[in-house]
Amino acid sequence: MSRIEIPVAVPPDLYGKHRHDPTTRVLDAVATAKMAWSARLSRKRLDLAANGIRFPAVVTARTPVAADDDVVSVTFESPDGGALPLWQPGAHIDLELPSGRVSQYSLCGDPADRSRYRIAVRRIPDGSGGSVEVHDALPIGTQVALRGPRNAFPFAATGSTTRRLHFVAGGIGITPILTMVRAADRLAVPWTLVYCGRTRAALPFRDELAAYGDRVTIRTDDEHGIPAAADLLAGVERGTAVYCCGPTPMTAAVLDALRTADGIEFHSERFSPAPVVDGSPFTVTLAATGEQIDVAADETMLTALLRARPNQPYSCRQGFCRTCVLRVLDGHPDHRDTVLTPEEHADGRTLACVSRCHGDGLVVDL
Ligand code: FES
Repeated sequence: MSRIEIPVAVPPDLYGKHRHDPTTRVLDAVATAKMAWSARLSRKRLDLAANGIRFPAVVTARTPVAADDDVVSVTFESPDGGALPLWQPGAHIDLELPSGRVSQYSLCGDPADRSRYRIAVRRIPDGSGGSVEVHDALPIGTQVALRGPRNAFPFAATGSTTRRLHFVAGGIGITPILTMVRAADRLAVPWTLVYCGRTRAALPFRDELAAYGDRVTIRTDDEHGIPAAADLLAGVERGTAVYCCGPTPMTAAVLDALRTADGIEFHSERFSPAPVVDGSPFTVTLAATGEQIDVAADETMLTALLRARPNQPYSCRQGFCRTCVLRVLDGHPDHRDTVLTPEEHADGRTLACVSRCHGDGLVVDL
């Protein structure tokens, strides 16, 4: 981030002579202190805007929310009982687990309730996220740190051309959709939901959705087979905004079906990173050791770095959590994130999970 230079000495007068008047020096000192304070504040605001606020929280409730017991909802409150930061449907938080791992989870409680946050986590035994730790090592009373909330999946109810909403959720992808469904219902916007999963037992929050009757269609692989795009978009017509969250093949199928549709909006949140489709190979040189790491055209810089440095930090792999940020010392990064500020880019910061290189290589501060 660029620094704002603060004058530290009393400046000369208009004629270039240094001033010695004590009153002037006191006033200059006060003005200098005020400038330094507001510069620090500006930098802090920029940092907060990009990172979200980091604050302590404590686990106050845990509840199984799927019949197969593989999904647990976890509630967090402020240790002092105070109000938590505001959020909107579609928002997520970064959860810093006691192990130091950072994972992102959609908020699925009530945005109007400032006293608590709720997330829901499916246990993924072989996954790279923190789901096992959330299930096995996050009892009630555990102190954690949260960062955010941030929103990579904003909900706009209806737009200028849309009058109704259609939601598509796959499994644990119901978490952001649940808050949108509630918001649509409160706003009395016509909506429908197709909710898919392997089995009914694997679908979280079925009891909360039961209140909405036949506006919710449940499709499970064991009862209905793998759904086609037409099943997921049944009844969707011109003037509809579609919000989709679930496994990548499901989201891709819905997007493909809507690519040529007229008058239908599409909004989605992915579970996994998009494949690299327009990359060129380049080399990353680690400044501390001189080691050179080749990045293939179809892989991310982060993937290549992890081969050589398995402990390199990362989390979302989609360019929004900032965990994988690097400082580039030489070369021209091809920034493909949307979260770093222009000042951070100018300062050499880049996100290894999405950004690439204009040219043959980068030297990074590792
Ligand atoms: S891992 Fe989240 S921004 Fe790169």
